[in-house]
Amino acid sequence: MDGLDALRAKVLEAVSSAKDEAALEELRVATVGKKGEVSLKMRELGRMTPEERQVAGPALNALKDEVNAALAAKKAGLADAALNERLQTEWLDVTLPARSRRAGTIHPISQVSDEVTALFADLGFAVAEGPQVESDWYNFDALNIPSHHPARGEMDTFYMSREDGDERPPHVLRTHTSPVQIRSMLAQGAPLRVICPGRVYRADYDQTHTPMFHQVEGLAIDRDISMANLKWVLEEFVKAFFEVDDVELRFRASHFPFTEPSAEVDIRCSWEGGQLKIGEGDDWLEILGSGMVHPKVLEAGGIDPTEWQGFAFGMGIDRIAMLKYGIPDLRAFFDSDLRWLRHYGFAALDQPNLYAGLSR
Ligand code: PHE
Repeated sequence: MDGLDALRAKVLEAVSSAKDEAALEELRVATVGKKGEVSLKMRELGRMTPEERQVAGPALNALKDEVNAALAAKKAGLADAALNERLQTEWLDVTLPARSRRAGTIHPISQVSDEVTALFADLGFAVAEGPQVESDWYNFDALNIPSHHPARGEMDTFYMSREDGDERPPHVLRTHTSPVQIRSMLAQGAPLRVICPGRVYRADYDQTHTPMFHQVEGLAIDRDISMANLKWVLEEFVKAFFEVDDVELRFRASHFPFTEPSAEVDIRCSWEGGQLKIGEGDDWLEILGSGMVHPKVLEAGGIDPTEWQGFAFGMGIDRIAMLKYGIPDLRAFFDSDLRWLRHYGFAALDQPNLYAGLSR
């Protein structure tokens, strides 16, 4: 058959120089497609003599097979080349760390809570917790603050609303961690040594007050506990917490309905050049409220006040965090500003403990 060799050479040349899969497909249609050059040649077979057909038929079939094979091989080659090109341009360095080195930090409140917990754990105090939405019995009555007592007004309490017609007293957002004293006494009885860190709420907002803040309560109950035990425990705590060798505490007579006698505790400090130094100087800084647990409070906690006594104290975690780490404005604690958090935050893996040093 005439021209077959020329056709083969032309088609194979076109296949091998095809640039992409679309060009290859066009070529397939134009050669072995229904009306392609090779297929049209097949139609000529009908007009041939049997002898001619015997030669031309196999030759045409062979050509068709050869073209199909070349197309398939070229297609696979183009796909490989395309993959290789993607691999060249879209590479990814899997050895890069998945997170930046310091993705997050520990908030000063968490840090200080951990420090306080580590310190009191060393003195034999366990951690107790209670609900933030509290009944007014736990928050007030059981702590010797009956309704209409002026202390209820002083606390700027947030009250939860009841449904219309429900005459029961409303729940409150706890105004202090002292209700956890009652819960711990009822749950564990005497003797007892707990600290109760957690969130508390009062309607107040300025540079040193936010509506939500944090306190830690301390409670120790045993057969012969006195103010002397309270003083020693607080001195040990303040020295260890502020990481100073010596510190002077001043107990100022005060009043809380749930302790008798009651004392507010100040620490000696100086403010030279705006820089706070604990343990030296002529200034005093109030850091907590404390006293001997009132007999009525022990009774509310199911503990016999003729057999047991105890001391209690409560202090602001946010406040001691500001003092220790020189943070001037309490409101920034709760703004979730990443720049503030990076500046004042602590490395995640440095768990505070007494042996390595609390704050490092
Ligand atoms: N609950 C008191 C307050 O919030 C602090 C306190 C606790 C005082 C325990 C005495 C004893 O101010």
